[in-house]
Amino acid sequence: MKLQLDILLATALTIATVSMVIAQVPPEKQFRVLNEPSYAPYITEYDASYRFLSSENQSFFTLPFQLMRDLDYTRWIWDANRNNPVGDNSTLSLGRDGNLVLAELDGQIKWQTNTANKGVTGFKILPNGNMVLHDKNDKFIWQSFDYPTDTLLVGQSLKLNGVNKLVSRTSDMDGSDGPYSMVLGDKGLTMYVNKTGQPLAYGGWPSQDFRGTVTFAVRREFDNLTEPSAYELLLEPAPEPTTTNPGNNRRLLQARPIGTGSGTINLSKVNYNGTISYLRLGSDGSLKAFSYFPPATYLEWEESFAFFSKNFVRPCGLPSFCGEFGYCSRGMCVGCPTPKGLFAWSEKCSAPKTTEFCGGRNKGKTVKYYKIVGVVHFNGPYVNDGQGPVSVNECKAKCDHDCKCLGYFYKEKDKKCLVAPLIGTLIKDANTSFIGYIKY
Ligand SMILES: *[C@@H]1O[C@H](CO)[C@@H](O)[C@H](O)[C@H]1NC(C)=O
Ligand SMILES: *[C@@H]1O[C@H](CO)[C@@H](O)[C@H](O)[C@H]1NC(C)=O
Ligand SMILES: *[C@@H]1O[C@H](CO)[C@@H](O)[C@H](O)[C@H]1NC(C)=O
Ligand SMILES: *[C@@H]1O[C@H](CO)[C@@H](O)[C@H](O)[C@H]1NC(C)=O
Ligand SMILES: *[C@@H]1O[C@H](CO)[C@@H](O)[C@H](O)[C@H]1NC(C)=O
Ligand SMILES: *[C@@H]1O[C@H](CO)[C@@H](O)[C@H](O)[C@H]1NC(C)=O
Ligand SMILES: *[C@@H]1O[C@H](CO)[C@@H](O)[C@H](O)[C@H]1NC(C)=O
Repeated sequence: MKLQLDILLATALTIATVSMVIAQVPPEKQFRVLNEPSYAPYITEYDASYRFLSSENQSFFTLPFQLMRDLDYTRWIWDANRNNPVGDNSTLSLGRDGNLVLAELDGQIKWQTNTANKGVTGFKILPNGNMVLHDKNDKFIWQSFDYPTDTLLVGQSLKLNGVNKLVSRTSDMDGSDGPYSMVLGDKGLTMYVNKTGQPLAYGGWPSQDFRGTVTFAVRREFDNLTEPSAYELLLEPAPEPTTTNPGNNRRLLQARPIGTGSGTINLSKVNYNGTISYLRLGSDGSLKAFSYFPPATYLEWEESFAFFSKNFVRPCGLPSFCGEFGYCSRGMCVGCPTPKGLFAWSEKCSAPKTTEFCGGRNKGKTVKYYKIVGVVHFNGPYVNDGQGPVSVNECKAKCDHDCKCLGYFYKEKDKKCLVAPLIGTLIKDANTSFIGYIKY
């Protein structure tokens, strides 16, 4: 084993380009670890089908964060190469030049930090979960916090002038990019579902001014260390610019209309030290925070915030709440709409598919609709209930002529028309002037 590492290190040294001017990673800080085909010798509540990384010269562990190679599901908070996985016997190495490289056995580079010859002198995982390459003054040349995937750790931000979104994973078993995203735009933070090539907003804080940066933060409610205190989980905007510190978002501020909402968003409060928490855009499109609750058993994470919940936005607003399709009332999937009426809901409840209307052999098929009275589409609240005023016939015609339209939603009072390429969970509304028409 040791011999093998030595040989690999020697290889790293021969390929590293030598620069006399720039500080280098000293030999005792360099490493090259192998993704060996042996599983972690440790059983957690999840399958032990991941691998710990270890190296004689480098710790990859800072409680409770650890760098691992994923084969299955656990609480993964960051992913280097989520759409580009590596195989057995691939290597993660930090050579003398300071570039952190994940490469296949044959040397093919799958991921790298592009930090060669930029003054990197070492690698660290910090207690807040940030993985960094630093220079000799401990300044970060590269940090994982700048590249969020689907999760924000405490202190981590989305930035207009950087990575501005979280992207869900495909499923809890498949870490590649999924259909949900939460994007920081110059007007706010918006959650989108993109299953049809057309992103549809379904949540977030779209009209909240975050001044170009939004940070997931945790604060003690009372700043008095002698007293026990609750902790607030927050979304914080960039600091207000002052005359002495105009900030780096000045141009954006000037371009924005005055009077939009701004300030910190309080997500929730926990009655213990919630310093170690994370906010995740789930593979089902949910947005939840989890907090590490030390008094509980090892690695106990408590759900400390859910965007779709009684206290925030109604659970029925989550497009995937009733699986592919369903009629949702007060947090329950109460029915499966069909042309013959409302049937009992089950996981098998399915919406019409665009292939029924777009395929060649379906060309010229007469489109029919069935009607659901008292219903709101998940996208409605984020697009002002659609376009209008238009007549219900014009709204229908729009859907008729668009083979990707699976139904339309009409609000009689203000003649608003929403044409839907994706239906998902339908939100029941007491107002019988809100009507949905589903194609079949
Ligand atoms: C570990 O550090 C020593 C120097 O302290 C160095 O000689 C050795 O090559 C390093 N090993 C690896 C695997 O990088
Ligand atoms: C990886 O290395 C191990 C041990 O050296 C070897 O048995 C195995 O065949 C290798 N796997 C691949 C895919 O090369
Ligand atoms: C939506 O999905 C389509 C198809 O997968 C992709 O081409 C497009 O870039 C996505 N749009 C956004 C905004 O993510
Ligand atoms: C939000 O949290 C901050 C920081 O803990 C606190 O100062 C503020 O009072 C809270 N606001 C509300 C409305 O609870
Ligand atoms: C902290 O709380 C204690 C008890 O309420 C109080 O005596 C003390 O003055 C407080 N300290 C500060 C700095 O507010
Ligand atoms: C809360 O937990 C963090 C991380 O474990 C620790 O650094 C901090 O000192 C704790 N705060 C208090 C008031 O105990
Ligand atoms: C239904 O909504 C309209 C506005 O869109 C409103 O005028 C009307 O009062 C509502 N009816 C009920 C029963 O809530």
